[in-house]
Amino acid sequence: MQLNEKRPTIGVFDSGFGGLTVLRALLDHLPGADYLYLGDTARLPYGSKSPETVTRYTAAAVRTLVEHGAQLVVIACNTASALALPHLQHQSTVPLVGVIQPGAQAAEMATTDSRGPILVLATEATVASHAYQHECAQLGLITIEKACPLLVPLVEEGWTDHPVTRQVAEIYLNEAIATTQPAAVLLGCTHYPLIRPLLERSTETLLGPVPVIDSAEATALQVWAMRPQAAVAGVAKPNIQFFATDSPQKFQRLGQRFLAHSIDAVTLVDLDT
Ligand code: DGL
Repeated sequence: MQLNEKRPTIGVFDSGFGGLTVLRALLDHLPGADYLYLGDTARLPYGSKSPETVTRYTAAAVRTLVEHGAQLVVIACNTASALALPHLQHQSTVPLVGVIQPGAQAAEMATTDSRGPILVLATEATVASHAYQHECAQLGLITIEKACPLLVPLVEEGWTDHPVTRQVAEIYLNEAIATTQPAAVLLGCTHYPLIRPLLERSTETLLGPVPVIDSAEATALQVWAMRPQAAVAGVAKPNIQFFATDSPQKFQRLGQRFLAHSIDAVTLVDLDT
C-alpha cells in the first residue's frame, strides 16, 4: 500500500507515552510528514484489559485520528496491535500499521547468528494473545513470553532510572530465565524502550551480552516503505499535534522528556464511545 499525499499526515496512537518511542523513530526516518499523536492516558493501562475493550478503545482512537486528518495510523501500542489490529485492519478507511510484525522481524535480524529463544517482555494481554509467539514462529523463531505488568505504571510515573524499577525488572527477568537462556530480549511493549538503559544493564548482569530489541525502528521503516518521496526528504519542519484523554499538563511534562522534543500544546480529547 502506498501513501498518496506529498506531505502525509501520520497518526500515532498509544495508550500513553510509550508510542512516543515510535514517533521518535518516525521523525528520524520521515521528517517530511506531519504527525498527530494520541495517548489514551485516561484509560491506560490497556495491558490488563479484555480484547473486546482494547478493540473498542483502539477503534475510537483510530477514528479520532482519522477525523483530525490522519492518512495512515500507526498503532504504536503492542497490546492494541496484538488484540485490536486484526479486527480493525479490514474495516479501516486508512492503512493501519502495528508494531508486532516489525518487532518480530527486528528479532530475526538481531539473532541471525545465535541460537536460543527470544525472550518477549510484554503486558499481560499481549502475552495472553501469543501474538509474538505466532509472528515469531512464522520466521522460525521460538519465544518465551513474560508478562511484566508493573513496568508500565513505573514508566508512566517517570521512574525510568529508579532502584525500584530496576528491582522489579530483575525479578521478572529472573523468573523468565529460570529454565532457558534466551538469545535476545525483545521489548514487546512500547513503554519499555523508555527504560531501555535500565533494562540493558539488568539484562547484561543476568544474561550477559544478549541483544535488547524493540520495534520502534522497524515500525518506522515499514511506514517509510509506504511513503511518498517528499515525506523522506521534507524541507519544512514536521508539524506535530498532541492529544491526550487525561491531564495535558502531565503529558506535556513527561512527554517532552521521553520524546526529546518540545511539546508546545496538548489537546484534551474525549474518546468515550
Ligand atoms: N503501550 C502498551 C503496550 O505497548 C502498554 C501500556 C498499557 O498497558 O496500556 O502494550
